[in-house]
Amino acid sequence: MIEVSAVSKVYDSSAGSVEVLNGLDLQVASGEAISIVGPSGSGKTTLLNILGTLDKPTSGAVKIGDQVITELDEINAAQFRNQTIGFIFQLHYLLPQCSVLENVLVPRLAGGWTESAADSQARAEALLKEVGLKDRITHKPFQLSGGEQLRVAIARSLINTPKIILADEPTGSLDPVSGERVADLLLETNLSKGVALVVVTHNATLAGKMQKTYRLEGGKLG
Ligand SMILES: Nc1ncnc2c1ncn2[C@@H]1O[C@H](COP(=O)(O)OP(=O)(O)OP(=O)(O)O)[C@@H](O)[C@H]1O
Ligand SMILES: [Mg+2]
Repeated sequence: MIEVSAVSKVYDSSAGSVEVLNGLDLQVASGEAISIVGPSGSGKTTLLNILGTLDKPTSGAVKIGDQVITELDEINAAQFRNQTIGFIFQLHYLLPQCSVLENVLVPRLAGGWTESAADSQARAEALLKEVGLKDRITHKPFQLSGGEQLRVAIARSLINTPKIILADEPTGSLDPVSGERVADLLLETNLSKGVALVVVTHNATLAGKMQKTYRLEGGKLG
């Protein structure tokens, strides 16, 4: 499903150049759940951004399904991302002026979908029910707890039925019990929908729940 070959990333700026990834290889099978751990600054977010077509490597290639994503131009990358990948960021970027339901529907706003608005809304409501928020759909994000906001972000990441979910520190700001529930929710999604899951985390319990754990250090995975 995901095939990363010899990916290197160097950030160049007037402040100097930083080599973050150095000939990194990774393979993730369809429906597999993996975690990536490693020290702060080791390049975990950089790697997720490259997997998610939000950034390009300095050299090397990433293939997702049949598509070499590192060759896509901006417009095709955006379309590919919208149709294939669900993102869960630590700062989940919910739109403050929109309701919970509207936030989940944001990824439907991009073109290329044939589903009716009513059907999209029905699926958004079903996803919010799955994450335990069916009574909160007309609330605004600020009226929810941090864990509840994260669950909105999880529902949003699933609305386009992605093949891959990329999650960056999804439990970072949560207490252990809420963190556990979010971890279980992600794994349930992985199992029931066959979505591949790549989770970056400092949380050893969360990392240990995935089928494989890789450590990013010195620009490579071990
Ligand atoms: N745009 C940029 N320009 C220059 N350096 C950058 C840029 N983005 C990230 N870096 C550097 O690249 C390195 C890796 O950053 P990255 O955010 O991928 O680390 P991380 O493993 O996600 O860390 P954390 O666990 O703290 O989130 C860091 O040293 C960071 O300072
Ligand atoms: Mg990071």
